[in-house]
Amino acid sequence: MYDVIILGGGPAGYVAAERAGELGKKALLIDSGEHGGGLGGVCLNSGCIPTKSMLFGAKTYDHAKHGAVFGVTAENVKFDYTVIKKRTEELQAKLGKGIEGLMKMNKVEVVRARGKIVGKNKVEADGKTYEGANLLICTGSRPMVPPIPGLRDNVNAITNEGILKLEKMAEHLCIIGAGVIGTEYASLYANVGKKVTVVEMLPKICGAVDKELAKTVQKKLEDRGVTFHLSAKVTKIEGTKVFFTDKKDAEQSVEADKILVATGRAVNTAEIGLESIGVDFDRAGIKVNDKAQTNVPNVYAAGDVTGRWQLAHFASRQATVAISNMFGKTEYCREKAIPSVVYTDPEIACVGLTEEKAEEKGISIKTAKMPLNINGRFLAETDGERCVCKLIVGAEHGEILGLHLIGPHASEMIAAAAVAIESELRVDEWKEVVFPHPAICEVMHDVAFHVK
Ligand code: NAI
Repeated sequence: MYDVIILGGGPAGYVAAERAGELGKKALLIDSGEHGGGLGGVCLNSGCIPTKSMLFGAKTYDHAKHGAVFGVTAENVKFDYTVIKKRTEELQAKLGKGIEGLMKMNKVEVVRARGKIVGKNKVEADGKTYEGANLLICTGSRPMVPPIPGLRDNVNAITNEGILKLEKMAEHLCIIGAGVIGTEYASLYANVGKKVTVVEMLPKICGAVDKELAKTVQKKLEDRGVTFHLSAKVTKIEGTKVFFTDKKDAEQSVEADKILVATGRAVNTAEIGLESIGVDFDRAGIKVNDKAQTNVPNVYAAGDVTGRWQLAHFASRQATVAISNMFGKTEYCREKAIPSVVYTDPEIACVGLTEEKAEEKGISIKTAKMPLNINGRFLAETDGERCVCKLIVGAEHGEILGLHLIGPHASEMIAAAAVAIESELRVDEWKEVVFPHPAICEVMHDVAFHVK
């Protein structure tokens, strides 16, 4: 009898296993390895990690090509996709070994097979039945492929999994969906001089990201040659040709070498036996409370499968909360300060409420905005591109509710704002914090003095 059986070894599952091990609990981790590798899930095998490696390669190439302004010129600058692909795979293998090591260190038993719940406390995998006092479901999500005629089973249409397996980059990539994945790949391909066309059904890119920030990245990508068709509806696909109606309802088509489908993700709730024990779920995911508990006692769920943030860092937090509650420590998963990043060049990083969201929720706010091109370090290290920082505070008490930033290293800086929101810091207290100089993060501090 295990203390906990964990289904799925992504950033929710393996972190949960580690936490359980740290508490001296007997944990069993069951993972099918269907993301083409070992533990680590989408994050390590086809998401967060490989894309960051590829994006860094593309950014380095772009910097080498445009270094003249900093006194650096180089001839014959080349982007060798084979080299970065190999480096990325080596990096994935190294991190994968790290996770294996963590499992060993924490005495977690790992079964590499598809697991299925077959009854209260019972999971079947690889022909065996395992029993656990608690169950944690972390089966994640997969790319959602919309029912567009000619899309399914089209060898030229790939998702975030297929694009990483390409032996060479497409010369012309058509991306369906300008959410996080679509925009990051547009940035990667455009940075190395490939042609990119994006077809998005909404009138803006990057989903819920602040309108102005999303527009700034769109403009930056357009300057690099990316074509965006927004408010467009894809009608059919024939081979490598994508047909769509544009915002004026005119029929258009684009012929590319490959089509990247980045239209969101579907939760992995099928064929894992949820029905056998009556776990409540729907198309959006398994329903959990803020303790990561499902409706069934001793059954928890964490990560993408719960259909909440679909972010690796949220998954790990939810998993930690699940393990704490399972073994006697009450903990809650708060969601008001979950940072989100779009790793374009430059990066977008956001945490907390946007102006749009505050308005929608009827929350009375004050805001401030500051361009980055008044910041010394930013000007020293960039060509002064248009970047901005926005701060949102509560109108009555001045508590920090949101911070939105576009600029280099934004992903590294946003954590400070997450701490401020989590600690319910007021803007006057934030002003008392000393930030390093010269540093781009100073802008997050300076902006506080302009709240109106
Ligand atoms: P997404 O939900 O971010 O964006 C999907 C986009 O596709 C939306 O803008 C939607 O309007 C559009 N769309 C849907 N159907 C369409 C159609 N038929 N024609 C044209 N456009 C269509 O989903 P995405 O980009 O696939 O990412 C999946 C998840 O992975 C997200 O939840 C995201 O948070 C996560 N992720 C996070 C990353 C990060 O933290 N940096 C990186 C990559 C993914």
